[in-house]
Amino acid sequence: MSPTETDQMIDTLDVARIKADFPILKQDMNGKPLVFLDSAASSQRPESVIQAMDLYYETTHANVHRAAYTLAEHATDAMEKARAKVARFIGANNADEIIFTKNATESLNLIARSWGAANLGPEDAVVLTELEHHANIVPWQQLAAEKGFEIRWIPVGDDGHLDLSNLDRLLDGSKMLAVSAMSNVIGTLTPIRALADAAHSHGALIAVDGCQYVPHLATDVAAFDADFLAFSAHKMLGPTGVGVLWGRMELLDEMPPFLGGGGMILDVKREGFTPAAVPHKFEAGTPPIAEIVGLAAAIDYLNDLGMDAVREHEIALNAYALRTLNDRFGDRMAIYGPTVASERGGVMSFAFETIHPHDLSQILNDNGVCVRPGHHCAKPLMRVLGVGATARASWYVYNDESDIDALADSLDAAGDFFAF
Ligand code: ALA
Repeated sequence: MSPTETDQMIDTLDVARIKADFPILKQDMNGKPLVFLDSAASSQRPESVIQAMDLYYETTHANVHRAAYTLAEHATDAMEKARAKVARFIGANNADEIIFTKNATESLNLIARSWGAANLGPEDAVVLTELEHHANIVPWQQLAAEKGFEIRWIPVGDDGHLDLSNLDRLLDGSKMLAVSAMSNVIGTLTPIRALADAAHSHGALIAVDGCQYVPHLATDVAAFDADFLAFSAHKMLGPTGVGVLWGRMELLDEMPPFLGGGGMILDVKREGFTPAAVPHKFEAGTPPIAEIVGLAAAIDYLNDLGMDAVREHEIALNAYALRTLNDRFGDRMAIYGPTVASERGGVMSFAFETIHPHDLSQILNDNGVCVRPGHHCAKPLMRVLGVGATARASWYVYNDESDIDALADSLDAAGDFFAF
């Protein structure tokens, strides 16, 4: 990518204006301006999301789908409008295919515990990849221990991409391919449509972990030809406490409920219960209504920016970070994952000199720079990389080149500190 292209792409978002929308970014941290580079763990919220939730509590709150009075109708209406908005945001035709959960982890557990428990036995196989977050591994391992099915792994190559050379053999006889659309550690974007086509040609379904992808790239479940998609509000400018599971209606219809309780039944007798229709069948108990309203406001904010502009900005920042960090540090720094800016999301894991990632993040913190050290809930990938931990910087719509420069300056300071 030429510098001219990069500079044009940076202009896709007015980051100074965007930064001003995020109250939390206005503060200093440890005597330095806060530089937030941990959005892959959890993003920040614009004023409009915070206000939407406040307004809901001030004017609209009552329990949903339970009462006939007007206030409760308003609350129910707010939640159902949000459901329709989420559906449009990911290209789903039917709002009832949107299930609100606690987070993406619960969404992924729902797929395993409901679809998986009903459909998998000792003769079957589930295919995962070495890029997966533990949330898309452990639920399948828990179920495999009960049901006796095999788990197979798509490897990650040296270039940070999935090695698909044995894909047909791995999918042969499998019933499910569960795969992340974007690695939370090294940013790799996986070829979801090609994977979906391959899975379907073997009679398997594809469940997509969209936790990192949905906040950053325009998402269309129809273009993916996916069967399930899981993601969380808190990584896309929304609140914590609400996640989404989208599934194809014919699958959701057949699946047993995941959690039991109020709101998910049509009838309960002493002999047993009849579940409600989708999506209520999967939404036991009082849902996180204010958080769902906050998620809708976050989607409004992202739609106003335009998801194509969000993505272009991110590619430009990737290019700027790769160029700046490589130029400034050369062999002192190892950046994991794809080397091409457009082949990765805004997540960059790295090693710096021989400094342990936890020590590194403490020095960066002294400079107000927030990065995450650790295994990032992806220990199989850490083993592929041959490390116990990495430091990870991740950027979003409110970051610009000055944040990457602050990261680089702080790495310099860390190098000096440990050089004694
Ligand atoms: N899954 C989140 C991360 O990657 C928490 O940091």
